[in-house]
Amino acid sequence: MVKKRDYKKLLSKNLKNFEIYQSGASLPDTIKKFGLEIEDIIKIDANENVFIERSWMQEQLKKCLQKINLARYPDPLYIETRKSLAQYFGLDYNEIIVGNGSDDVFMTIFHTIIDNQSEVLVAEPTFSMYKFFTDILGAKYSYVLLNDDFTLDVKSLLSKVSKNTKLMIIASPNNPTGNTFETDKIKFLIENFEGIFILDEAYAAYSNVSLIDWIHKYNNLIVIRTFSKSLGLAGLRVGIMALNKELADILRPIQIPYSLNVVAQYLVPQLLKEKEYFQKKIEEVKKEREWLFSKLTEIKQLKVYPSNTNFILVKVLKDGLNANKVCEELIKSGIIIRDRSKVPLLSNCVRITVGTREINLNLLEQLKRILGD
Ligand SMILES: Cc1ncc(COP(=O)(O)O)c(C=O)c1O
Repeated sequence: MVKKRDYKKLLSKNLKNFEIYQSGASLPDTIKKFGLEIEDIIKIDANENVFIERSWMQEQLKKCLQKINLARYPDPLYIETRKSLAQYFGLDYNEIIVGNGSDDVFMTIFHTIIDNQSEVLVAEPTFSMYKFFTDILGAKYSYVLLNDDFTLDVKSLLSKVSKNTKLMIIASPNNPTGNTFETDKIKFLIENFEGIFILDEAYAAYSNVSLIDWIHKYNNLIVIRTFSKSLGLAGLRVGIMALNKELADILRPIQIPYSLNVVAQYLVPQLLKEKEYFQKKIEEVKKEREWLFSKLTEIKQLKVYPSNTNFILVKVLKDGLNANKVCEELIKSGIIIRDRSKVPLLSNCVRITVGTREINLNLLEQLKRILGD
């Protein structure tokens, strides 16, 4: 007989307020639940980039296969990778920390700076992982709502700062609202906050605005970039932070060694040589976003929010039909989008990743059917 154990007694005290993070859908789970085939599924719930051809990426991978030795650990300092990133972003390689997706570099910042007496300040609604990082360390998650037009309420944010507020995090463009915040407001926040200000630029490539070089002006600024959204590498897991060298030297030793795997270590410098290809793909996404925006706007039962990202936020206005039901109905025809209706300010909202024209036509047809348009 196996002895029964009460695992709750063993849990870290820090986890008492912990809420499970809901990531994008699991394909095998969705297939099983809805009796679908993998070919039937259109997954537009996690803001991945479906414009970069798989065959093109496989060719890039082939080009560096000779260098990759899976039996060896990656370079613990990732020097060549950081040098290529530094050149790409116009920085010094000592100003870059790389990691296993931007979630990983966020975790390094949290582990270094946050304890269970600390507060983290954000503007909601925003990327839900900031709460996850805060909660697992038992810190206080403090937030101010965006204004109704999704602009930043700078005064309220600064008035919320306490002596324990060590981090302020703003994503611009923001997920899930899709808008870019005014540069002047971000500047004001950085200049008037004594703690570390994290600017998450996960979607910056789609907005034409990046403040990454401000790390040379503000030594309390960390800028986060991910390769998951614009460079089509969500599965490889590559994220970076850009920050001044002095702060980088404090954070780097706290990161788990070998965070960037050997494949990413060689593939990233190879891909950064293909700037033109990526720029072309980013332009294609932006063009398709504008087309999808205009088509969604034609559906009367929807309110569509402008976007500077590769996704569009949409509010369902039809009486008797909520966002959750729309998502459920779409899944039955194999289309997975993200229900965001439980998020503050976003009642009845869903988030849709911009797909190819074929995907978008399919989505529009199903949406019209469900909404009776
Ligand atoms: C604003 C924002 N930051 C960071 C991430 C995480 O990116 P990564 O795949 O690099 O962990 C996401 C993913 O959705 C995001 O929306």
